[in-house]
Amino acid sequence: MAVLEVCNIKKNFSKLQVLKGIDFSLEEGEVLAIIGSSGSGKTTLLRCLNFLEIPDEGAIKVNGNVVYDAHREKRYTDSEIRQNRLNFGLVFQQFNLFPQYNVHRNLTMAAELLEAKSLKGAARQEKLAEINKRADELLQKVGLSEKAESYPVELSGGQQQRVAIARALMLSPNILCFDEPTSALDPELTGEVLRVIDELRQDNRTMVVVTHEMEFARKVATKVIFMADGVIEEEGTPEEVFAHPKSLKLQSFLLSSLEKF
Ligand SMILES: Nc1ncnc2c1ncn2[C@@H]1O[C@H](COP(=O)(O)OP(=O)(O)OP(=O)(O)O)[C@@H](O)[C@H]1O
Ligand SMILES: [Mg+2]
Repeated sequence: MAVLEVCNIKKNFSKLQVLKGIDFSLEEGEVLAIIGSSGSGKTTLLRCLNFLEIPDEGAIKVNGNVVYDAHREKRYTDSEIRQNRLNFGLVFQQFNLFPQYNVHRNLTMAAELLEAKSLKGAARQEKLAEINKRADELLQKVGLSEKAESYPVELSGGQQQRVAIARALMLSPNILCFDEPTSALDPELTGEVLRVIDELRQDNRTMVVVTHEMEFARKVATKVIFMADGVIEEEGTPEEVFAHPKSLKLQSFLLSSLEKF
C-alpha cells in the first residue's frame, strides 16, 4: 500500500494559481526528489503536505487514511490538523532550531509536550527517560552525540541541519520532508547533510526532498518529479528524468542547472 497519496492538490494565493492539480504517490522506503525552477510551487506543495497551507482542492492520504479532503463538509479543527501533521516531519532550508535551548532540549521538547504532559509520577519519569534515550540515539545517528549540550549558535550550519533532521525524526513521522536542506550551506558542509539523508534512505525511510542538488537527486532518489508552473511537467526514475528528459522545459532546466554548478 502507498504510504503517501496526493490527489489533485490545488492551491491559489488570491488570483495566483500556484499548484494546478498535483498527483503522486509514494511507497514505503521511496525517496521522491522534487526539482524545478524558482517559483514553480515546490515549497508550496511541501507546505500543503504539512498543513502549513491548506489546499483549495484535492486530498491527501497517509497509509490509506484520508488526512485531508478539501470536500469534507466539516472544517478541520486545530487539533485534527496538529494530529495530521504528525504524519510528516519537516526540515527547512534555514534549520529553525530554538536558539535558547541546547541541542538535546531541541530534540526532546516537542516529544515531552506530546507524550509526557498528561502523565504523572513513575509513568512520567519512565516516558521522559525513554524520550531522552530516543534523543541520544538520534544524535548518535546524525553523528552529533558530543554536541548534545551545545547551543545552536555554537554549531556549524551543517551540524545545525543535522540536529534539525534528528529533531524531525523524534516524533517518528511516516514521511520526512526536506525543503532545500543544503541550499543555505557552504559546499563543504553540504556533503555531511546529504550523507545523513542517504543513510536514512538505507534505513528505508520514506522521504520527499525538494532539492537543487541534481547529482544527489540522481543518486539517492527512487523517483523524480520536475515541477513547472504549478504542474508536474515530467516524472520518472532518475535515469528517465536525468538521462532521457522528454519535455523541452525539463531539458532546458537541466542544461541551466549544469551551467550553474
Ligand atoms: N504566502 C504566499 N502568498 C502569496 N504568494 C505566495 C505565497 N507563497 C508562495 N507564493 C507564490 O507562489 C509561487 C510559488 O512559490 P514557491 O515558494 O512554492 O516556489 P518554489 O518552487 O519553492 O521556489 P524556490 O525554488 O525559489 O524556493 C511564487 O510565485 C510565490 O511568489
Ligand atoms: Mg522553495
